[in-house]
Order: sequence, then structure tokens, then C-alpha cells
Amino acid sequence: MTSRHEATLAEVLESCRPMPLTEPNILKTLLSIQDRMGHVPTNAVPRIAQVLGVSEAQVVGVLSYYPDLRTEATGRHLIRICIGESCKANHGDRVLRAIREYLRAEVGTTTPGGPFTLETVSCVGNCAVSPTVMIDQDLCGRVTPSQIPSLLEPYRL
Ligand code: FES
Repeated sequence: MTSRHEATLAEVLESCRPMPLTEPNILKTLLSIQDRMGHVPTNAVPRIAQVLGVSEAQVVGVLSYYPDLRTEATGRHLIRICIGESCKANHGDRVLRAIREYLRAEVGTTTPGGPFTLETVSCVGNCAVSPTVMIDQDLCGRVTPSQIPSLLEPYRL
């Protein structure tokens, strides 16, 4: 962890420190850390457990239970393609293939140099205009394979 990450972690943990007589919220704390750092470093687990007053096993349990929590750093941009039923029915598989070919990356990997990480996600509630691709926090609906280069190119910068 870099010193900048250390400082960010300390800041987030301080804001999540439970008040006396209140239950620690492990999930909220992990989401806050991920929100600020992009992921939850596994080497931070002992400190998280200590600040929250829980066991390391409890932190690891929450960390491994929720698929939205990640322990590896992502690229600068996180691309998530929906593999929910509606998106599947509207040829989301073709969009995924086009993204993989364009990025030359497989699901769960980051492109060399780190511009993009590709992940799948279950329904994100955008079914009415499926198939859906999320680029960072941007939702894109009715995506077609031919749109992929123009959709992703601006994020290469
Ligand atoms: S199934 Fe993809 S947004 Fe709902």
C-alpha cells in the first residue's frame, strides 16, 4: 500500500469507527474503503478488524460474500457488462464479445497499462433499454457491438 493509500485508509476507518454502544457496520466500512481506494486491500483486514472491534474472520467473511467488493485494484476505468436475463435476451453476449475483442481482454482482467478492467454484473435495473454496459458510473443502454469502439475510445485518454 502506498503512503497515500495508507492515509486514505486511516481517514475512512476513522469516519467508520463505531460509536460506543453501537454495532460496527462491516459492509458499510468496506464499501466506503472501496469507494475511496477502488478496492479493499487484503493487507488492510487486520486494521479494519481492529478499528471496528470485530475479528479478522468476520471482515474476510463479508469481503468474500459480496461480489461487488473487490480486493484487487482495477484499471482507471471499470467496464461492467450486464449478464442478466434481459440483457442476455437482447444479445448482450454479442456486446461482451465485441468488448473482449476491442480490449483484447477477458472478463476479470485489466488491460496492459491499466486503462480498463472488464467485469460482468447481474441486472443493474436498466432492463428496459438492454443490453447494458456500465463504464465507471455511466450507464449505457441499447448497446450494439458496432458501437463499442466509439463508446470506449474516449475513456482511453
Ligand atoms: S438484465 Fe441487464 S439491466 Fe437488467
